[in-house]
Amino acid sequence: MTRPEILLQVTDLRVEFGSRRWGKKPFVAVDGMSIEVPQGRTLGVVGESGSGKSTLGRAILGLAPIAGGTITFDGRDITRPMPRQRRALSSELQVVFQDPYSSLNPALTIESILAEPLVAGGMSMSDARTRIAGLLDLVALPKDSLSRLPREFSGGQRQRIAIARAMARDPRLVVCDEATSALDLSTQARVIDLLLDIQEQTGVSYLFITHDLDVVRHMSDEIVVVNRGRIVERGAAERVVTDPQEEYTKRLLAASPIPDPVAQRARRAAA
Ligand SMILES: Nc1ncnc2c1ncn2[C@@H]1O[C@H](COP(=O)(O)OP(=O)(O)OP(=O)(O)O)[C@@H](O)[C@H]1O
Ligand SMILES: [Mg+2]
Repeated sequence: MTRPEILLQVTDLRVEFGSRRWGKKPFVAVDGMSIEVPQGRTLGVVGESGSGKSTLGRAILGLAPIAGGTITFDGRDITRPMPRQRRALSSELQVVFQDPYSSLNPALTIESILAEPLVAGGMSMSDARTRIAGLLDLVALPKDSLSRLPREFSGGQRQRIAIARAMARDPRLVVCDEATSALDLSTQARVIDLLLDIQEQTGVSYLFITHDLDVVRHMSDEIVVVNRGRIVERGAAERVVTDPQEEYTKRLLAASPIPDPVAQRARRAAA
């Protein structure tokens, strides 16, 4: 099999949150991270709370202050894009956050929520309607959803709406930041399967950020493990989870709850 092309390349990225106080050093949230996401593949990002996972994703989306390094998307340098380039990127680079309720405008119907990015991208309302019907199909929501408001849906359904909105303009990369973390286990499994189906159908790439090792193993081709703003281990998803090389990864695995208590005891004993 030929190796797919690299869609996103991040090299030596550094994100600092400045302190305005005199003499106080800025806080380095991302300290020299390098990652690659091939076309149609998923890179998982795991690590403890506060390790810098979301900041990495936000920096790629242009939402965190970049102090060094480069971000290249499809061969273009997007480290510090001009507003026009940023707007153009919004069709290719999308995001799904943890909490679909706060990210969906509560006053808009599902139809308006899904139409908004399409119309903003220059589509006519009648073409948008056709596309929206396709999007509802893609995320398996009933046809009568269109006139309803976000609060009239369950958490899992709202996350499907957020996914549909992210997919509206056929993005090439979607940053999923704890996209399934707020859902109960069975809903989580269905949303993960949905994301995998969409990837198979559309060839989209994911940067899949989570603290959940089971989820990331299921979703990802490769994984990077981050600790205090640095990547401490990387490799094929299965290898990192079953045969971690670094102490930090071993501890992270030992601490993560897994459904099988026997395996969990063995894992804890080995760590
Ligand atoms: N806007 C900000 N200003 C100052 N510090 C920030 C800001 N955003 C994040 N940080 C700090 O950067 C560090 C990394 O935060 P980040 O949100 O990337 O962690 P995370 O790995 O996503 O954690 P979690 O699993 O809890 O979501 C944290 O110490 C956080 O307090
Ligand atoms: Mg986070």
